[in-house]
Amino acid sequence: MTPEEEIRQLRAELNQHNYNYYVLNAPTISDYDFDQLMHRLEDLELFYPQFADPNSPTQRVGSDLNQQFRQVAHKYPMLSLANTYSEADVRDFYERVRSGLEGEPFEIVAEMKYDGLSISLTYIDGQLVQAVTRGDGVQGDDVTANVRTIRSIPLQLRPGSGYPHEFEIRGEILMPWASFNRLNAEREAREEPLFANPRNAASGTLKSQKSELVAQRGLDAYLYYVLGDEIPTDGFHYENLQEAKKWGFKISEGMQKCHSVEEVLDFINYWDKERKNLPVATDGIVLKVNSLRQQRHLGYTAKSPRWAIAYKFQAERVATKLLEVTYQVGRTGAITPVANMEPVQLAGTTVKRASLHNADIIRQLDLHIGDTVYVEKGGEIIPKVVGVEVENRSKDAVAVQFIQNCPECGTPLIRIEGEAAHYCPNDTGCPPQIKGRIEHYISRKAMNIESLGPETVDDYFQRGLIHDVADLYQIRPDQISGVNGTKIKSAQKIVESIRGSLQVPFERVVFAIGIRFVGETTAKQLARHFRSMDALSHASLEELQEVEGIGLVIAQSVVDYFHEPRNVDVVNRLRAAGVQMEIDLDENVGGSDALQGKSIVISGVFTHHSRDEYKALIELHGGKNVGSISAKTSFVLAGDNMGPAKLEKAQKLGVPIVSENEFLNMIQ
Ligand code: IVH
Repeated sequence: MTPEEEIRQLRAELNQHNYNYYVLNAPTISDYDFDQLMHRLEDLELFYPQFADPNSPTQRVGSDLNQQFRQVAHKYPMLSLANTYSEADVRDFYERVRSGLEGEPFEIVAEMKYDGLSISLTYIDGQLVQAVTRGDGVQGDDVTANVRTIRSIPLQLRPGSGYPHEFEIRGEILMPWASFNRLNAEREAREEPLFANPRNAASGTLKSQKSELVAQRGLDAYLYYVLGDEIPTDGFHYENLQEAKKWGFKISEGMQKCHSVEEVLDFINYWDKERKNLPVATDGIVLKVNSLRQQRHLGYTAKSPRWAIAYKFQAERVATKLLEVTYQVGRTGAITPVANMEPVQLAGTTVKRASLHNADIIRQLDLHIGDTVYVEKGGEIIPKVVGVEVENRSKDAVAVQFIQNCPECGTPLIRIEGEAAHYCPNDTGCPPQIKGRIEHYISRKAMNIESLGPETVDDYFQRGLIHDVADLYQIRPDQISGVNGTKIKSAQKIVESIRGSLQVPFERVVFAIGIRFVGETTAKQLARHFRSMDALSHASLEELQEVEGIGLVIAQSVVDYFHEPRNVDVVNRLRAAGVQMEIDLDENVGGSDALQGKSIVISGVFTHHSRDEYKALIELHGGKNVGSISAKTSFVLAGDNMGPAKLEKAQKLGVPIVSENEFLNMIQ
């Protein structure tokens, strides 16, 4: 056998074993034997790089190179489903389908609603060629490199299984409970912030810039819809998915064809209990009309199909005992009370802490230590205390008293008129506030200093290396090497990556310095309006409020920030270090008032710039980007695949449609 033949054979064998293991759940060889085959293939690929293939089973480990996600337009828009919460809603849906189909017999396919993030996979000639997230439904991120590492997603479909030449398949990427619990346990041990639920963990993981990390996180995927020009239009959803299973995909567990609403409700009730035994999070049941012809007949509303619906399970609620209330101090000094409870199992995880939000909530609940409390995981799955069993309370139970001093630095707390939260005003001396500000500064959406994390910040703070964000730029490699096993090479890398943040644009610097109430969007608006830190720091309350979307509260907060000498000092030292203090000239160039007074709606998919870039361009040239078309709209900036409803409305109101190129000419 030639090496090329052996490589081909090993790949086929390993693909089959992956399928047996991940899709059929029925492995036929031991892990050890599997690893042996894999090692042999790895060796051969190393020696014969001319036979490399990105879809080889060896490529599941990912890479540690940073990647940027390309925006890709969906060939067919990715819609979401209308939600329902009750039996009556399900009956209504069933009746709507019946009357929509004018008495024709129909089948409803009931399947799990998986709680992860949706993905669209494209296969050509049996090879995975592209994986795109839902994004805004019109376009999403190309996450192919990351998706290749998910073992239950076939890179190469099973030979001879009858798959179409080209098709798209959609489904949900999930983090199984086992991976999620392991990941959070590791993060807890390293004192890193925990993921609130498997959905957030899966989405954070899939958007990671390093595919190697994705490979280690143990993601899984279930596929639930096949589409493409070669899929027979007179076919059936259920049968398509059974075929897809043969091609190599993992599909919904316990899928069922139902012929009456009673059967649908039985399915829902059965899985409401049984889903607790599934390896992944589910938050409901999806109901779909089986016949594709009937699906087309029923059609779509503006947002979702009329032929499908999601039934959402009720949030789970359990009772447990309140042991203690502790208090966390955030970067702004806001105090969050946390209920510490006897651990209980709730919707797949062990819960022992729940947010109590603020002092008012504690008072409303009339919370006493030792109370039996009800804990719920809502849509967001961050557990919250929703009620108290007063009957069970012992006579000598002590009511929870909100603290008066900061638990970290002892400073008396203040409560600002009209706000629910208490604050620790010691912003320059209270450790979690100082560290929190630095963590905010280095975070991805701010200065994106990837080599640092909460642990390193804590470490450098403890050792007196940093007291504020400006100190970061003074760190020398020799100060941080040798400690906690940091080698001089990595120390140099850390310092380099801090220096790298000197290139981060001014808008993000405005966000990064952590002015209260100034989020990402507000920071952008301020940066674009004032154009330099100098101008921003000297702006008066009135001038600040002239900026679109900035009211008194934010304006006051900006003024207060620059009134504080310590903040001015930090900003000055950042400037001296070389941090961007003005809007980039490139962006400045080309600014005009070509679109002065115009309200512009953006619709469709674009080739030259992203939607966000077009928004920015509109603003840069004095125009205003608005969400929906009205008689006042000046024109619609339309890319490809503009929604039919928008097109019709624009035509009806006589609003002009401007193409991407026409628009670019307008602002030239
Ligand atoms: S079908 C047009 N089936 O729920 C059909 N969606 O609110 C669109 N989801 O965005 C989707 N499990 O991310 C479908 N078995 C399932 C699903 C499912 C989970 C998610 C999906 C979608 C959202 C709909």
